[in-house]
Order: sequence, then structure tokens, then C-alpha cells
Amino acid sequence: MPKNTSMAHDPSTTKDADALRAIEPDKLTEAQARREHRALGAEIAGHDIRYHQEDRPTISDAEYDALRRRYEAIEARFPELRSAESQSQRVGAAPAEKFAKLRHRVPMLSLGNAFADDEVMEFVARICRFLDLESPPAFTAEPKIDGLSCAIRYERGKLVQAATRGDGEEGEDVTANVRTMRTIPQTLRGDVPEVLEVRGEVYLRHADFAAINARQVEEGKPAYANPRNVAAGSLRQLDPSVTARRPLQFFAYAWGDVSSLPAATQSGVVKAFASYGLPTNALMRLCATPQEMLAHYRLIEAQRSSLGYDIDGVVYKVDDLALQRRLGFVSRSPRWALAHKFPAEKATTVIEAIEIQIGRTGSLTPVAKLNPVTVGGVVVSNATLHNEDEIARKDIRVGDTVIVQRAGDVIPQVLGFVPEKRPVPEPRRYEFPKLCPACGSHAVREVNPRTGKEDVIRRCTGGLICPAQAVERLRHFVSRNAFDIEGFGAERIELFHKEGLIARPQDIFTLEERDQHASPRLMEREGFGETSARNLFAAIAARRSVALNRFVYALGIRHVGEATAKELARHFGTAEALQQTAIAAQDRSSEAWNELTSIEGIGEVVAEAVADFFGEPHNQEIVTELLRQVTVTPLEAAATGSTVTGKTVVFTGSLEKITREEAKAMAERLGAKVAGSVSKKTDLVVAGANAGTKLAKARELGIETIDEDAWLKLAEA
Ligand code: IVH
Repeated sequence: MPKNTSMAHDPSTTKDADALRAIEPDKLTEAQARREHRALGAEIAGHDIRYHQEDRPTISDAEYDALRRRYEAIEARFPELRSAESQSQRVGAAPAEKFAKLRHRVPMLSLGNAFADDEVMEFVARICRFLDLESPPAFTAEPKIDGLSCAIRYERGKLVQAATRGDGEEGEDVTANVRTMRTIPQTLRGDVPEVLEVRGEVYLRHADFAAINARQVEEGKPAYANPRNVAAGSLRQLDPSVTARRPLQFFAYAWGDVSSLPAATQSGVVKAFASYGLPTNALMRLCATPQEMLAHYRLIEAQRSSLGYDIDGVVYKVDDLALQRRLGFVSRSPRWALAHKFPAEKATTVIEAIEIQIGRTGSLTPVAKLNPVTVGGVVVSNATLHNEDEIARKDIRVGDTVIVQRAGDVIPQVLGFVPEKRPVPEPRRYEFPKLCPACGSHAVREVNPRTGKEDVIRRCTGGLICPAQAVERLRHFVSRNAFDIEGFGAERIELFHKEGLIARPQDIFTLEERDQHASPRLMEREGFGETSARNLFAAIAARRSVALNRFVYALGIRHVGEATAKELARHFGTAEALQQTAIAAQDRSSEAWNELTSIEGIGEVVAEAVADFFGEPHNQEIVTELLRQVTVTPLEAAATGSTVTGKTVVFTGSLEKITREEAKAMAERLGAKVAGSVSKKTDLVVAGANAGTKLAKARELGIETIDEDAWLKLAEA
């Protein structure tokens, strides 16, 4: 074994160290143990770097294990030597019962996607337009690793915390598990910022995946579907010693909370990460033109099968961090980055049946039940057929052999059938049901009054009398990102709905009170006991206070996902204000309609859906009743401390240093609302050159007005 490779020693102390190494752990004095513990820790850390980051181990695995065993034996005798960054914390910390939640100081976002080269060109063009640049800026291009993202916080160079992405706002505390990963340094080298939250991807190599699966099969256990699942399962292990046995890898490619940055470019920061001892990806390139970006994509695609780990595309990022800052974000993704995905993977199999699923808005979705088949490493037995027209256009019939495609996380889809394999005699053409299979109501395709076109989706007209729709709506209402009521799974909702205990969302909050006089009481019902009834009531009570964005999302308005719900919450501040405006917006020539359509991230289709939802008396009733039952708290402001947070800003005239789009995005980022016209509700008017009537109106109403430079100063403050 090469001795003390990681330490610079003068010869006399090396001799001492050798002598020390010969003493059995239980014979060491306390002072000797302290010295030996420190020496072993440094030595193990050095081996970890050579093994994982430099790919040049200098000792065998057995020798490495012997070092660790000795290290742990010393700690077992002298537990006071153990500290948070001790090497032994990399294995064997006590299993936790449940992960603690950690709120990300800077949200963890996702990426916009592109499949075609054109979309990449459009992405670059959009950036040029937004920034008013004549030629494209430089971009980095790097592999998109198919693992799971993780945020690792270092303070004064020491690893202090690690969290999974979770929903992007809040993740799980996986510090104990990340400490067991040999590839991740406990301590960073060099001149490191005081606070550095490194973000990157945790993943598993193909070879390690195959070995783990071989062991599973040997032990008679089911094989894992793909490396990503194993990586996720290993990182989210309550027992860190399980994580320690899985050779998880990591690439650092981004950052969250930092006290300062070591460079002014994306590539420069990642280079600095590498110098701190963090693993980074060698395939990252700086590209000066869109042509170079696409060429690098082709190069990575060509190497894909020989990389030894799964990747699902290439990520492009604007290199200049000042430009990244100016570009900012649209809902959940940065404007300055894009994931260029590889084409999806395909397989063929037989359709055994076509089933209809009913969504919470009554949509009838055809689902192909397939003879299970592996597509890109995942077993697929259901695939979407999209809608009635798609089935007819592709002429897909039960019994057909079909091509199934799966791309990333999206639901697998049926591309078409294989004519040579159609059974003889031919199966009958598939006839799409005209009645809802769940409630028997007519299922119709609405005609858009403006375009005169039929909607592609057939919808059940049963509304809340349709059990499938009502149950789906309720399920959505209590789901994790909506009201998040624990212990309210699909089966319970279905049961409560069938038994007439809960028909509408507001009934959830009167359940306990009604139960006092009910017969049988909930705790007397089958499958319930006193504890589970009490737990459910407690879980419901805990959600009597809810953030506005969750409240809006829970309503299940068509087209309103989490990001849109946040935009609405940010803009309106209260549920009452949203409801009032949306009701007034029934008149499409009203100020209310203008307000709704001028919100960042909300186009006509969404505005239409919001107005339609609140236009329905039964929805108004649901909202009003709910507001009687629960307290709605505001969304946390995007940024606090700015003088414009919560204010309404209007931009007018022509801006010279930034584009109108950029100005609007800036204001939204500071937590301000941007309106299209000046009214009594306006707090600030930013007037560019040649501002006209809006500026005049602002002056008339006595509203504060500033010029472009003053705006930029205010926004930077
Ligand atoms: S950058 C603000 N770079 O892809 C942008 N993400 O679809 C932060 N991912 O959640 C992400 N490889 O888990 C970035 N080289 C890479 C990546 C990468 C994989 C994952 C990451 C992210 C997801 C978005």
C-alpha cells in the first residue's frame, strides 16, 4: 500500500506514522488515536479524490476498506473524535424515520425543452430579441444527465447540508446520505466563497446499475427499471448505510445560494467548481455560434451509447452571467437555458384494450392497454392515444401491433400500427363512446364560438353529477401541490364520495362537524378506527390555512397549473380580488379582462379559462363557501425589500436601454404587478421617450412617474 500518499510529511514523522499504523486500534492511547484518526481521515479523503475524480486509484478496494475499518474502530473507542465531516459519517448514520423538509433559498427550476434544431434557433433568436442584441451571445453546451438534481451547501468550504429538488421550492434533507457519497468532497479545496450551494445531478453508471441488478436477481428480487430509479431510490434512503453501498456519481453544473461567485461566466464558475474538487462534466463546451451549439449536440449524441451513463439531451446556457441575470425566468424555467432533447425511444407491442379515462374537467382520454414492453429501459403497459381524432386518423384498433414511444418523463404514446401485423380477419374499427362511461351523460365536443371549430376533446356533460369527474376534482383538490391533506388518498375520496359524505371541496372542511351527529360515525366505519378518524380530522384542520397559490391551483381551473396559479396569486394578492376581477372579466371589453390578459405568463386561453370558471355560479359558490372555511394567506413575494414589491407599474413610451419585455419581466421579478393601462390603481408609471396619453393621465391622477434610468437604478437597488 502506498503510504501517506495524501500527506506531505517530513521523514521523521513519516516514520512515526508507520509505527503508529502498526498498533491495534484498541491499544492506542488517546493522543495517538487522535493523530491516527486525523491521518487516516486525510488519507481516505485523498483516495476518494483519486478514485472518483481523477480515475486513478492508488490502492485496491480491499486496502481502502481496511483503512476505513481501522478509522471506524478508532472512532468506536473514542466517539469524541467523530464530527459532522468525519469520514465515518459517510456510512452508518442512524436511519431516519422521515426526511425533514428543506426550503430552497433560491428555487430549483426546470428547463424549457426543444426537440428540433429550429426550436433551438428560435430560442437563440428570442434571447437576441429580448436583449436587443444584433448577434447571438456565447452559450455553453453540455450533456443533460438523466439522474436527479441535488443541492449541496458548503459553508467556509465545508459540506453542511444537502437537499433533493422536491417541488423546486422545498426538497428533502438528504445530508446524511450525501455525506456517504465518495465522489462528493466533504471539504472544498482552494479559495472558496463563504457560502456556496452547488447544484448538480446525482446518477448511476451503467456498469454499477448492471451489477446492482444482477445482485437483485440473484437474491430473487425484482430487477430495477433504469439507473435513474436506482439513483433516486438510493439518495432518498432513510438508512444512509444503504446509500453508502451504492456507487452514486455526481456532476456539478449550477448553483443556488452563494455569497459571491468566482467568475462572471457560466463556464468560468463551473471551471472554478472543478478546481474546488467538485466533479464536473468534461463534455461541456463554449460555443460562439448557434451552428457550434448544434454541432456539439451531434457530437454528444454520437457518443451517447458509449458514455457509460444515461443522458437524455444537451443543455445550452447563456455563458455571460450578467446576461443570464437580465434574461431572468418565465414561470419555472430560465429564459437563458434550454434542454435540447434526443429523439425518443421506441418499441412495438400489441394493444389488448382501449380504456377511457375521465379527467377532472370531464375530458375523455383514450388509453391503450398494452402487452407490457420495455421502452428505453422502462416497462410500459399503458400509453395515451390522445383523443378521438388521433385514433381515427391513425386507424388504431384493439389487437393491432403498435409502435410505442417514450421520451423523458412524458407519458408513453402510441405512434401508429404496423399494417403487416394486423390480425386476419381484421378487427373492427374503434368506435369512440358518445356517452360517458362513468355516469352515462352525453359526452360532447364543444364548438369554439370564435373559430367555429370543434374541440378535439370530448367531454362529459355530467359536471359534478359525474362521479369520475367529481372524484378526480376532489383528488386534485387534496393533492400534494394543492391543499396537501395527508391521509386522503384516492380510495378514501372515492369511498366518501360514494357514501355521500363529500360531494364538493367545501364538504371536506365540514366533515368533522357533520360526523358528530352522523350514524355510523366515521370511526365506526369499516377500515376506520378512532385513530385514523382523528388523524384525518387533524390533517384537514391543519390545512385550514393555505397559501393563495395553492388555493387557486386546487380549484382545478382548466389550463391553470402551479406556475400559473402562482402568477395569479402574485398579481391579485387575495382570492376575493381574483374572483371579483374574473367575474367582471365576463365582459371582454372591460378593464378587468384587460388586467387578466396583461399578467405575465397569462395568455388569452388561460384568461378565458379563468373567466369561464368564475363565471359559473356553482364555482362561485364553491369559492365563497371555501373562503368561509379556510384562511388564505398570500404567496410569499418573489422578492421583498424592493420599493415596488406589491405595487402596480405601467410602462409607456419607448424604452432605450432595455426592451419592453425585459422591463416587464424585471418588474415581475421584484414582485410588482405590470398593467397595460393607467388607472387609479396604478402606483408607478415608467415613461420612456415620447410617452403620450398614459403619461398625461398619470400626471392628472397624481401618480408617481419616473424615467427609464431611474427605473433601472430602482430595479438594481
Ligand atoms: S441546469 C436553472 N444542466 O434537468 C437550470 N440541468 O429539466 C438548472 N439536468 O432539474 C438546470 N443535466 O435535474 C442543468 N447539465 C445540466 C443538467 C440538468 C440534467 C436536469 C436537472 C433539472 C432538469 C431540468
